[in-house]
Amino acid sequence: MLIRQKTAIDARECLDLLQRIHVVDHYPLHIGADEVPEFFASEHEAAAWVALEDGRIVGHVALHTPAEDPTLELAAGATGSSVDRLALLARLFVAPDVRRSGVGRALLRHAAAQAPAMGRRAVLDVGQMLHAAVALYEREGWQRVGELHLPLDDDIILDLWVYVSPAA
Ligand SMILES: CC(C)(COP(=O)(O)OP(=O)(O)OC[C@H]1O[C@@H](n2cnc3c(N)ncnc32)[C@H](O)[C@@H]1OP(=O)(O)O)[C@@H](O)C(=O)NCCC(=O)NCCS
Repeated sequence: MLIRQKTAIDARECLDLLQRIHVVDHYPLHIGADEVPEFFASEHEAAAWVALEDGRIVGHVALHTPAEDPTLELAAGATGSSVDRLALLARLFVAPDVRRSGVGRALLRHAAAQAPAMGRRAVLDVGQMLHAAVALYEREGWQRVGELHLPLDDDIILDLWVYVSPAA
């Protein structure tokens, strides 16, 4: 398995993978299939990587740096950092047929290790119902520092745990 920076040419294949995952795992949570492209093409993406096996994209992760974000604000309060010293690890997903082979762990470690080069520490939020992802973050020593309950349209609440990466 190879991890490299995502290129513009990878975007279509990544989106196809995420759309398949949305059907299987309901991630991204609480959005329709037609909203997945907009979710994936975030304006806040500062860096992103893909995992490849036999030339096929089997996973993706990004670091986002929005100027304002409730997760970053919660993590800033918990760590004593300012928001501009944190990066949101986001859009982590792995193809269902290669799961439990270490791809998610490798992508998580890779992105978190790149954040300091940007002068930032990686933090993330995760839907409380995404049990595999929560298990991965706990197993990797990320620290849960709080939770958010964000109201969406249609009276739906997005329930999130917020984690910070292990201290360097
Ligand atoms: C979460 C996700 C990225 C994990 O990817 P993965 O490649 O299967 O994870 P790994 O193989 O690297 O797992 C590493 C460790 O995490 C934990 N883990 C991962 N999936 C797990 C599961 N389904 N149940 C329990 N523990 C799990 C285990 O400790 C695992 O180690 P082990 O296999 O030696 O027991 C993948 O399940 C996924 O894409 N889910 C849908 C999208 C999603 O929820 N993204 C997170 C958004 S915040």
